[in-house]
Amino acid sequence: MLEHSMLMKKELIIMEDNLHPVFNKILNRDDKERLLNQRSKVVWLTGLSGSGKTTIARNIEMELNGMGFLTQVLDGDNIRIGLNKNLKFSEDDRSENIRRIAEVSKLFLNCGIICINAFITPTEKIRNQAFKIIGNSNVIEIFVNAPIEICEQRDTKGLYEKARKGLIIDFTGIDSPFENPVNPNIEIRTNELSVSESLKKCLEVILPEITY
Ligand code: ADX
Repeated sequence: MLEHSMLMKKELIIMEDNLHPVFNKILNRDDKERLLNQRSKVVWLTGLSGSGKTTIARNIEMELNGMGFLTQVLDGDNIRIGLNKNLKFSEDDRSENIRRIAEVSKLFLNCGIICINAFITPTEKIRNQAFKIIGNSNVIEIFVNAPIEICEQRDTKGLYEKARKGLIIDFTGIDSPFENPVNPNIEIRTNELSVSESLKKCLEVILPEITY
């Protein structure tokens, strides 16, 4: 048994010895930003389910694409049927969900692409973990803020009703926490602003950051 664990340790060391990252030999972010004539950023929308994150993300993308920017939207429901389909909604799974998404966002960032993320990202701890991976200065944090009563009234996916009936557990805002971001770059109150007003407010902050 002892021999076996020593062997495992040795194998691990050898494996690391065999890894040769080539970060300094490949084209870097600057080269790609120059090629695309844009500065890359991660625009991160956080908020309750039904607050309007996906709508705003899609509108930002359409508008930026129309102006010639290359973007990529990452969205909770899409990522959770693919890359993260093994994860559920416990605190640990949400944390792992967001960790992987942050790593993917960093790849887009280093490729010069503007990554627009729409995820509940419910707690300060989870958001901080993500922004640390990406680098705080690379992130524009948007708090998509609608009161839970409004999100529940909208209930676009019928999930609040299911959560109230106990058919879904760990539902954000019902039996799982959502903490408001402390210091977001932008706050959008989707129950007070129209989609185009929300979009305008976001672009005022985003455009100066991504213009080459
Ligand atoms: S996060 O908390 O880990 O950031 P994420 O944004 O990926 O969540 O996924 C949220 C989406 O999953 C919601 O918009 C909703 O459609 C769906 N969903 C299914 N079950 C839950 C749940 N228990 N809590 C929140 N969202 C859920």
